[in-house]
Amino acid sequence: MREQENHREDVAGRANVEDTPELLAYYDDLHRHKAGALWTVANKIEPWEPQSTSEPTIWRYADLRDHVLRSVDLVTPEKAGRRVIYLNNPGRSDVSAAVGWIYAGLQIMHPGENAIAHRHSASAIRFIMEGQGAFTVVDGHKMTLGINDFVLTPNGTWHEHAVEPNGTACIWQDGLDIPFVNAMEANFFEVHPDLSTAVTHPVDDMTKTWGNAGLRPGGGDWDKGYSPMFKYEWDRTYEALHSLVASSDGSPFDAVLMHYMNPVTSGHVMQTLGASMQMLRPGETTKAHRHTGSFLYQVCRGAGHSIINGKRFDWSEKDIFCVPSWAWHEHANGSETETACLFCLNDLPVMEKLGLYREEAFGENGGHQPLI
Ligand SMILES: [Fe+2]
Ligand SMILES: [Fe+2]
Repeated sequence: MREQENHREDVAGRANVEDTPELLAYYDDLHRHKAGALWTVANKIEPWEPQSTSEPTIWRYADLRDHVLRSVDLVTPEKAGRRVIYLNNPGRSDVSAAVGWIYAGLQIMHPGENAIAHRHSASAIRFIMEGQGAFTVVDGHKMTLGINDFVLTPNGTWHEHAVEPNGTACIWQDGLDIPFVNAMEANFFEVHPDLSTAVTHPVDDMTKTWGNAGLRPGGGDWDKGYSPMFKYEWDRTYEALHSLVASSDGSPFDAVLMHYMNPVTSGHVMQTLGASMQMLRPGETTKAHRHTGSFLYQVCRGAGHSIINGKRFDWSEKDIFCVPSWAWHEHANGSETETACLFCLNDLPVMEKLGLYREEAFGENGGHQPLI
């Protein structure tokens, strides 16, 4: 007889049917007809609260950087398509995700190298980690890439990346919603017929046109589902955090946080991926909370630690760590004199649009999790 799963709970309103020889035979009959009895699996497929299979994980740059550099000697961008070392969450390796339904990797390019132009249904971001002379071209708009700049390659846009011949080796984080789009069974991928795209606009035009806070360009109309501002520069972002801190106490859970925004809608930068930059003031610690959605943090300034589901993760510049959905988390700046900044990629647009966002504060112990 076939092994039959039966998830029982002795709680009113939950399935609690004991196995009998008659029922086991009945389940076998259903199985032969490609069917099953809901009460055997209901408690598993409808948990009381989200059960993330993602493990809170940190990828330390000091551990990974040399291995990323090694890939240059081992494969060419032409052969690899994209020369990327991806972040493989132990609980999500079946879908190659860093956390939840978000994929991320570290891409390296040497001076004079370029990746072949392509497009896909997945939406992508880059967050620049090191090097000079990198640029990306999105639908003919060329963008220069500086450290801690945040760049969009929205779904369906032709894009390619390269490093100028007089640049240095460049490394950046790629973040995409590939696992999500695959889960939706909606992913297409195309290589550009010319293998490269022409630059048809002035360099950095989208940031210069759309990236002026509080000002909308005359004649600027834009009806696409993603932000026309393809690049968000670090200097202006950091300045904005300081402006905010001068007029606000911030949040006890998120410290000083700014969401990257589509300037046309004031909403998230893309349909499926959102991003934010969070500043912890010198000595600042946040209180613990949890919410739905998957969050991938990159430390872009300073050092400190986060406690995720009771476990402490120490981080410093360029480390990447994840907070899975519904995981308790709190952050602490390790310095009494310097700010710490955390870039965060998330799937909040999906959570919010589908009405799935939920948030809860950690009520006990003064708002801080006991360490496990
Ligand atoms: Fe791509
Ligand atoms: Fe949070």
